[in-house]
Amino acid sequence: MKKLQAKVTVVGAGNVGATTAQRLCEKNIANVVLIDIAEGIAKGKALDLAEAAPVELHDRKIIGTGDYSLTANSDVVVITAGIARKPGMSRDDLLMTNAKIVSSVAKQTYKYSPDAIFVVVSNPLDVMTYLVQKETGLPSSRVIGMAGVLDSARMKFFIAEALDVSVQDVIANVLGGHGDTMVPLPRLSSVAGIPLCDLLSKEKIEAINERTKKGGLEIVNHLQTGSAFYAPASSVVEMVDSIVNDRKRILPCCVKLNGEYSMNGVYTGVPVKLGSNGIEEIIELKLNQEEMNEFKISCDHIKGQIDNLSNLLSGSPS
Ligand code: NAI
Ligand code: 2OP
Repeated sequence: MKKLQAKVTVVGAGNVGATTAQRLCEKNIANVVLIDIAEGIAKGKALDLAEAAPVELHDRKIIGTGDYSLTANSDVVVITAGIARKPGMSRDDLLMTNAKIVSSVAKQTYKYSPDAIFVVVSNPLDVMTYLVQKETGLPSSRVIGMAGVLDSARMKFFIAEALDVSVQDVIANVLGGHGDTMVPLPRLSSVAGIPLCDLLSKEKIEAINERTKKGGLEIVNHLQTGSAFYAPASSVVEMVDSIVNDRKRILPCCVKLNGEYSMNGVYTGVPVKLGSNGIEEIIELKLNQEEMNEFKISCDHIKGQIDNLSNLLSGSPS
């Protein structure tokens, strides 16, 4: 019989993982296996979420575990395992610690779900997505990083706030790496079809670009103990929904470029068509020279991080 409900494994039952699991169930998108090295946390949070079902009125199944065999035959694997940054840390500071965790998690989940589509969340995002593809050997269309949806959501929110309009009417695009070099694209952003550049002054747009680039840091500085998780979880869920329901949404995601945008082999954020086959198309926007220069700087930064990771893993100095 055809499987009626998608099965999604969420690795890491911390802030992003548990909130993702909650939204996947409560939005009726998938059954969830929540897995963590801290087994009790995964079990406790999953049971708590399951007990909310009679009030939230859904019938999605959610289990918590530390046993990878229970993740078998997942349609999607979401990797949120790792440490989050604290004030004074950049996403890049997480590189080595998270590389070891993500590498081990990728191998264990792939063993039980070789046909899954992998959505990577752990930071530094672009390099961790590269690492998951390397460790699993999956086609790059099946290994996708979440960052662009979040960065664009932040930009949309700041635009809606500046114009006092509904977020629903705002389109915003952020490309490139998930870090200080990300590339907000106001020229390709709009409100109900009206170009943003016709609605806000250059100065206001520049302020929104800067706030978008520092959106993660702004939250870290407020929280002091960790990083953002509500908007990140919403962003993961938008991607998973497009995959398991074959919606073919056009979303900015971190993907491997194979010649698109004149880049080869680097993982970075660009708009893609996301469906049941994973990345079904990489969309090439016509960037102007200035945008292309910024995008290239971002890609070069990611390439540098990938080289750092390779050097660290092989024991040679970076
Ligand atoms: P958190 O600290 O709340 O949760 C991380 C969880 O990973 C913990 O429960 C921990 O026990 C678990 N974990 C650690 N090692 C593990 C292993 N080997 N196997 C299974 N589980 C393991 O952190 P949070 O806030 O959930 O963030 C998770 C990651 O996501 C961080 O690296 C953070 O920087 C990143 N992040 C990325 C975003 C993006 O836009 N790509 C947005 C938000 C967070
Ligand atoms: C963020 O942008 C932590 O990368 C995460 O909030």
